[in-house]
Amino acid sequence: MTRIVVVGSINMDLVTQAPRFAGPGETLLGERFLSVPGGKGANQAVAAARLGAEVALIGAIGDDGFGQRLQRGLADEGIALDHLLTLHDAASGTASITVAQGENQIIVVPAANARVTPAQVESARSLIERADAVLVQMEIPLETVEATLRLGHRLGVPVILNPAPAQKLPIDWLQLARYVTPNQHEQATLLDADPHEDFRDLMRRAPCPVVLTRGSEGAWYREQAEPIHQPGFKLAAVDSTGAGDTFNAALAVFLHEGLPQAVRKACAAAALSVGKLGAQTGMPGRSEVDTLLAHSTDLDSRKRRGV
Ligand code: RIB
Repeated sequence: MTRIVVVGSINMDLVTQAPRFAGPGETLLGERFLSVPGGKGANQAVAAARLGAEVALIGAIGDDGFGQRLQRGLADEGIALDHLLTLHDAASGTASITVAQGENQIIVVPAANARVTPAQVESARSLIERADAVLVQMEIPLETVEATLRLGHRLGVPVILNPAPAQKLPIDWLQLARYVTPNQHEQATLLDADPHEDFRDLMRRAPCPVVLTRGSEGAWYREQAEPIHQPGFKLAAVDSTGAGDTFNAALAVFLHEGLPQAVRKACAAAALSVGKLGAQTGMPGRSEVDTLLAHSTDLDSRKRRGV
């Protein structure tokens, strides 16, 4: 079984579905409200577990009602929580999410997530040493992201850095990652580049192998020469929250099958994940990904055939 370690955030997502986004000072009537587990780290852990991996999560929650629900949810998914900290003097992280007209707006309050330390990662050294891949994102302190990259690199374990939410990072950190997985906006921020510059040119200039996500258009990846396109899978979308997390998790789980196949499966898993409201609600199991790949054609091949 593939062993994945995730270092990252755990949030309670407070999701409101609305007909449109409210403007400054405006009050709108929403259509539906849900409080559901989320956070980029927890989402990636859950997605990897549903895809059949053995998963451990390194993170922190508060000693509160949200924290208890979040911990129970992760345990129910079979995720190992030996390196989960419960902090008595911090609240659990939250994300206030509005979903409207197929888009989302998110405001994250990191709370306990801001206390995930390099020492906590170092204390999980033997766990990381045995992992097939490590996933880390940027809703935890950057010094902890750096510690994860350095430890993985030292131990020869591939670290996938999902640079979300967007922040600029030192070049030498990027070179420690096996793959960096930004979306277009995150890539421009990461490389301190003009956001209007062609994303393929930026990929060519990046100091590390990049797997770039493009929503329903799929993904692009570049290991050596030219960027290669993996078309997306066209499925009905309700809420794209967590699609990037599902993509990253699948990439890590299927990496041993080679990058092209891992990216293809990651696009399929991400497409399946957007069918339900809530980040983790629609995350697929391995058999759903296999079924989609067996029965569906990628967007570009449909276009080529004029479908
Ligand atoms: O990537 C989606 C996640 O971002 C949400 O679950 C929310 O918690 C924010 O962290």
